[in-house]
Amino acid sequence: MSAPSIETIVSLSKRRGFVFPASDIYGGLGSSWDYGPLGVELANNIKKSWWNWLVYERDDIEGLDSAIIQNRMVWKYSGHEDTFSDPLVDCRDCKTRLREDKLDRNDEGKPVCSNCGSTNLTESRPFNLMFRTTVGAASADDDPAALAYLRPETAQGIFTNFVNVLNTSRRKLPFGIAQIGKAFRNEVTPGNFIFRTREFEQMELEYFVRPDDAARAHQEWIDGFFDWIDSLGISKANIKAYEQTKEELAHYSERTVDILYRFFPEREDEEKQWDELMGIANRTDYDLRVHSKKPEDAEGKRINPDSTEDLSYFDPQTNERFYPYIIEPSVGVNRTLLAVMMDAYEERTNEKGETRVILKLKPELAPIKVAVLPLAKNKPEIVETARKIKRDLQPSMRAVYDDTGGIGKLYARQDEIGTPFCITVDHQTLEDQAVTVRDRDTWEQERIRVDSLAEYLRNRL
Ligand code: GAP
Repeated sequence: MSAPSIETIVSLSKRRGFVFPASDIYGGLGSSWDYGPLGVELANNIKKSWWNWLVYERDDIEGLDSAIIQNRMVWKYSGHEDTFSDPLVDCRDCKTRLREDKLDRNDEGKPVCSNCGSTNLTESRPFNLMFRTTVGAASADDDPAALAYLRPETAQGIFTNFVNVLNTSRRKLPFGIAQIGKAFRNEVTPGNFIFRTREFEQMELEYFVRPDDAARAHQEWIDGFFDWIDSLGISKANIKAYEQTKEELAHYSERTVDILYRFFPEREDEEKQWDELMGIANRTDYDLRVHSKKPEDAEGKRINPDSTEDLSYFDPQTNERFYPYIIEPSVGVNRTLLAVMMDAYEERTNEKGETRVILKLKPELAPIKVAVLPLAKNKPEIVETARKIKRDLQPSMRAVYDDTGGIGKLYARQDEIGTPFCITVDHQTLEDQAVTVRDRDTWEQERIRVDSLAEYLRNRL
């Protein structure tokens, strides 16, 4: 089972402290969200899983953290200033602003307003999605010399550092650079909770290869990311690949495969249940070429007179110099978090006939690994023993102490936030130095000696 809709996760998130509407006390700001105590832990664990897999477990990837605000030339030559836009229309009847490419068409092929059904729409016009800002204390708001953008993707910071990383890490092809960071897009139609927002976080890998190795490497990364998504506990039934058509491909891409998740299971039309979790593109040598000072167009004019660097690669084995191809798996932290929560969601009925929510997160993703619960909070020895167990576990795993309710309620609360184990300290603990360990998924209980508890939990986690 997984969540019946995103709405189920919205309400769980607010109730338990995963995600809150941003600036809520001032009425909020459309599509901005804050990550609460549990949400930030879950997001950090997802990022850790990605980073460990790519940067620590492999031998061919370096990390990077580039600036959010870059020289405007980065966005000029990447193509974002000219082409990073969505087609915008307004409905003349209900005044809603819409993305033309996302609208259903009527029998005559005319786009239909998704709000009121009217076809009385304005002509489509491009709307650039980059957030603008100005740099420097003295600059006027409209000073073109001070114009800068908040990055709409982390990728460009990797391309502009290609030679820096290559030289300082003494790498040879194939190798990759991984980066996690915020990105900003002034989306026309944000929505569906954290699925599409104006501020979000990306995990991007740019993998540099010889041009003749690109098709193979691309397929290898598509397969690799299916495995990584699987390792997050997301079921195969809710994941599928989508091959972008020639018309859909971005200007830099030779081939892009999206991995889709069933974000909208409540929709009747099966096709409409799916949307993009991530994309894996073969960006060719486009990026390193356009940011380099040397390449020329058909008339012999430099395509980039502003760059001071040539981002080509010299292959010492073949004595060739060329611009590497780039394979780019790019995934959003927020969409991954949403998919992980939806997929882990389960409802179960207990022996009293009450419905309980269990978030069956993989233990390594769970925000809290262990909750220590005293069975009698008015008994100082029990409370002190429980607090000591929590303190002893805390350095090696995230543990919490909770005595704010009856045991049934405390178990239910931990199940709902995905805590894999609850430890109960009772009267018998004071005599036999053992505690009850309860498993979130099976609700089975086992008696474990306190002195072997840490090792027992480490093995099971
Ligand atoms: N560098 C390539 C790139 O940025 P993209 O398909 O535009 O490609 C990659 O974005 C991923 O970033 C998406 O698959 C999605 O997971 C996430 N993403 C993009 N726009 C988003 C938004 N407005 N809100 C949340 N996540 C977003």
